[in-house]
Amino acid sequence: MSDEANTENHDARIVIRNLLHLEGSPYELAEDARRGLTSSPKWMPPKYFYDARGSELFERITAQPEYYQTSTELEILQRIAPLIVDRVRPTALIEFGSGSASKTRVLLDEMRRAGQLGAYGMLDVSEAASRAAAVALVATYPRLEVECVIADFEQPQPLPFPGRRRLLAFLGSTIGNFEVEAAQAFLRGPAERMRDDDAFLIGFDLVKDRETIERAYNDAAGVTEAFNRNLLMVLNRELGADFDPSAFDHKAFYNESASRIEMHLVAKRAQSVRVTDLDMTVEFAPGETLRTELSHKYTRRSVEALLEAGNLALDMWETDPDQKFALGLARRR
Ligand code: SAH
Ligand code: TRP
Repeated sequence: MSDEANTENHDARIVIRNLLHLEGSPYELAEDARRGLTSSPKWMPPKYFYDARGSELFERITAQPEYYQTSTELEILQRIAPLIVDRVRPTALIEFGSGSASKTRVLLDEMRRAGQLGAYGMLDVSEAASRAAAVALVATYPRLEVECVIADFEQPQPLPFPGRRRLLAFLGSTIGNFEVEAAQAFLRGPAERMRDDDAFLIGFDLVKDRETIERAYNDAAGVTEAFNRNLLMVLNRELGADFDPSAFDHKAFYNESASRIEMHLVAKRAQSVRVTDLDMTVEFAPGETLRTELSHKYTRRSVEALLEAGNLALDMWETDPDQKFALGLARRR
């Protein structure tokens, strides 16, 4: 975010390009907040969670015992990384929403073992998280070239390393955080830019019993709750708002008919919030909610339909033995 832009980079193997603050950039917190806070019901796009603190809190979510997604996806990745690397033979890995890129190392290790590790491109809104990940990666992989594109992946972006055979990755079921149509639209971007021998590995959290899903977004240690409230602190800092985060409850529930988690902040009492930079006052009735996140859950069928709408087709499908999570390998149609 803005406070992290324009910092220096001292390693020649790391290139950081921040596209967020360019003219015409769609990463417009002020506009998005004006639209979302005057809508009924109120909502905010989730990309604004991820300032430096938000990215740290997300890392802590992935380590909570209730949040089965990360460990399950890692387990599948460890099992199938050799298959994927043999099948695709990539010399570059390009990842959307890379964050700390910890699971990514399984793929990088396998590419190195196969003697094919050349380049890693990461695309993420968080410059702090991307920079830290890039520095740690070049320390582990001495010959790796890293390009960080700090940008909004909801906008079609050119893919780094066009001269190489590329494995694209979108892990953590982050694709589930889009609305259904937005997920389809997102996929068409990479689909259009991939070559026939490129492939796209995508993580999907699967439909399962309500308790397991809801527990993952209501961890006992309260980390997800802190992450949710951090959005209000971003609004306070970036837009001169005066939200009292403790005046909102965290609420996350599974909407079974839409197969998705919905996450909200619920006003504990009536309140007026001043947003100085928007010259606006936002009224909350007691119990009124601000929707902050969606997280869709999938079946193999719904994934096939989603990929088809995104001009992709499923080439490989792997789950854990309990079918909690899946990795799909997709190709251009
Ligand atoms: N891949 C990691 C992190 C997932 S969290 C994992 O699987 O654990 C989602 C990541 O996507 C965060 O790093 C966040 O900064 C990034 N992100 C969220 N919305 C984004 C957007 N619109 N454009 C680019 N990056 C985004
Ligand atoms: N892609 C993750 C998911 O939907 C992101 C996530 C996990 C998340 N926990 C969260 C997003 C809590 C917002 C709030 O599972």
